[in-house]
Amino acid sequence: MSEIGKNLTRAKELLDQGDLVAIPTETVYGLAGNALDSTAVVKIFQTKNRPQFDPLIVHVANMAQAKSLVESFPPKAEKLALKFWPGPLTLLLKKKNIIPDLVTSGMDTVGIRCPDHSLTQSLLQSLSFPLAAPSANPFGYVSPTRPDHVNDQLGDQIKYILDGGECRVGLESTIAGFENERVVIYRLGGLRIEDIESEIGKVEVQLNSSSNPKAPGQLKSHYAPLKKVKIGNLPELINQNAHLKPGLLTFQKKIRHVDPKNQIVLSESGNVEEAAQNFFAALRELDKKEIDVILAELLPENGLGKAINDRLRRASAD
Ligand code: TXA
Ligand code: MG
Repeated sequence: MSEIGKNLTRAKELLDQGDLVAIPTETVYGLAGNALDSTAVVKIFQTKNRPQFDPLIVHVANMAQAKSLVESFPPKAEKLALKFWPGPLTLLLKKKNIIPDLVTSGMDTVGIRCPDHSLTQSLLQSLSFPLAAPSANPFGYVSPTRPDHVNDQLGDQIKYILDGGECRVGLESTIAGFENERVVIYRLGGLRIEDIESEIGKVEVQLNSSSNPKAPGQLKSHYAPLKKVKIGNLPELINQNAHLKPGLLTFQKKIRHVDPKNQIVLSESGNVEEAAQNFFAALRELDKKEIDVILAELLPENGLGKAINDRLRRASAD
């Protein structure tokens, strides 16, 4: 079991000595370590059982620290950072040598983001280094949005979880890369594409599902619970799976003829932001129930609905 608390001094002390600490952000909890210390970074990969080809996001306190870690800040990247940081946006920028190659899996770009959470902001400001932090879950599983989620899976391996309550956004950051004048979105996430485009104009979205992706969050099967997930029209799915005991993930309301306690509604009022906040916790809860299969319906394809649907498609991929 990890110790769970709000003690910033304790968190800083552990990080200063090269240990890992789980930290809250507005998106999901991160498994943090000193981004400039290869030994700490190795511990992150080991703890998550994460393949080394999957690079880590580096978390900074502010723009000045971000600039100290990269060779250049393209104008559109700077515009986005000024508008949306702190917030759920990761920028892929050309890295300086002080960032260990291990962090970026040998790539020459580093993912940088300034998280919007008061506790983690205070922590970052107290440290003399940035924090590498992937989501605090075993590789491939659903991201954690509460301290107990982290404790459930990594409690045996990490000493301290900084308790920042439930994550406000509930989905991982949106990832943007910059190639000359082109802006490419590699992962849909907590910052809406609509908001990015209103700031810098049209962007490309490249959510490849190949086996050699630019971002393994792009792996076809990812963000997955242990139980099989099927997506589609719920009454049809229920019929097709009549031989199985289903758990349902619904958007606005429960369905008749399925045990109500095996159904989770994401947002009764049909609010996709609320649905996003509840989404990963709902998948975890369904995963723990005595059911055979998780049946889920897709959300409207706008705003965060798009990012949730992306996660559902990956969770349901073989
Ligand atoms: O919201 C978030 O981004 C959370 C919180 C903790 O900040 N972090 C997170 O990290 O989701 P992780 O490691 O679970 O997902 C990071 C994704 C991975 O799919 C990784 O491949 C991609 O970001 N990534 C990181 N650096 C990259 C780079 N230099 N080039 C391409 N993709 C990169
Ligand atoms: Mg992750």
